[in-house]
Amino acid sequence: MYCAPGRGARAGRLLGLNNPARGLAAALPSTVVVGGFYGDEGKGKLVSYLALHDSPRLVARGGAGPNAGHTIVDGGQTRKVRMVPCGFVNREARLAIGPGVLVDPVVLLREARELGASARLVVDRRCGVITQAHREADSRGDLAGRIGSTGSGTGPANAERAMRTLGLAGDEASLGGMVGDVPLEVNEALDEGAGVLVEGTQGTFLSLWHGTYPYVTSKDVTAAGICADVGLGPRRVDEVIVAFKAYVTRVGAGPLGGELGAGEAEARGWAEFGAVTGRPRRAAEFDCELARRAVMLNGATQVAITKLDVAFGGCAGARSWAGLTREARAFVEGVEASLGVSVTLMGTGPGPEDVVDRRARA
Ligand code: IMP
Ligand code: MG
Repeated sequence: MYCAPGRGARAGRLLGLNNPARGLAAALPSTVVVGGFYGDEGKGKLVSYLALHDSPRLVARGGAGPNAGHTIVDGGQTRKVRMVPCGFVNREARLAIGPGVLVDPVVLLREARELGASARLVVDRRCGVITQAHREADSRGDLAGRIGSTGSGTGPANAERAMRTLGLAGDEASLGGMVGDVPLEVNEALDEGAGVLVEGTQGTFLSLWHGTYPYVTSKDVTAAGICADVGLGPRRVDEVIVAFKAYVTRVGAGPLGGELGAGEAEARGWAEFGAVTGRPRRAAEFDCELARRAVMLNGATQVAITKLDVAFGGCAGARSWAGLTREARAFVEGVEASLGVSVTLMGTGPGPEDVVDRRARA
């Protein structure tokens, strides 16, 4: 019961919240991971690491919908997920899709089956449902042409949601036993002192409110929006990890400061392709000004930097600070100084274990 006086784990949590000495090591109970640039910062891989190491009871996905693609290495196999939370790599974790996220039952059911995740997946009954008509509308006209949308049906479905005409998951027979109450599960887990990991999709500057409008996705994808997607109130968030890549990429149209030519990006090893669309990603050097704004907009308590191995040779597979090259360490320290937030997690390869974790440092 929510109005019961705090006892046990709940009282401990309140003490933690009020204790100014609380260090960065307190990564759980509730941790939110969001993208700081234009998506594709490697959030999926970070979430897979956190899901395995922090043992959350629940991993909940926020964000727009199946326009997002995460690439995850699971037991040596590379998987691309667009609907199932990246926390699936932890077989003990319950997986949840919050009511703010649009679901495409075709994509969701296929992924859940392929990953063997159906029995531990809960889709909120208030999730909006993408249909073939939305996918078609997203694959032609202005959204596909001028904006360069992913064609996944997300924008047209969110437009219908705003018009109050969109169908919901609770009425979708194909989702059957997966449908439930995600905000209740998220908050009950926290009440019981269990960990909850919330994974965002897209990135800060693709936010409908805070991004490079009109070259943005169809909703807010900053930490506040992602938390609202899963029913997590602002006071219940312990850690906000803003993920940046060691360089910036952008897929689709819209401004990209300091954009490199395709040849230059390739020469640096930064040529990437979209996980959903397969389109080449545009690339630029790490942008401290953009990163500072992302830290501000998301209220970052920690920062993660991925793909240090790609930006700096000699870092591949490093799992300790000492294992990074001097150049990479100087880069991380420079970013820390510029942002005024600790860089606690660094990605050094595609596997969930290819991480330097300095959360215990503070
Ligand atoms: P939409 O979200 O499919 O409408 O696409 C709008 C813009 O956001 C396009 O530039 C897409 O390429 C971009 N976008 C949407 N989702 C992602 C993502 O998960 N990663 C990177 N870019 C994305
Ligand atoms: Mg992606």
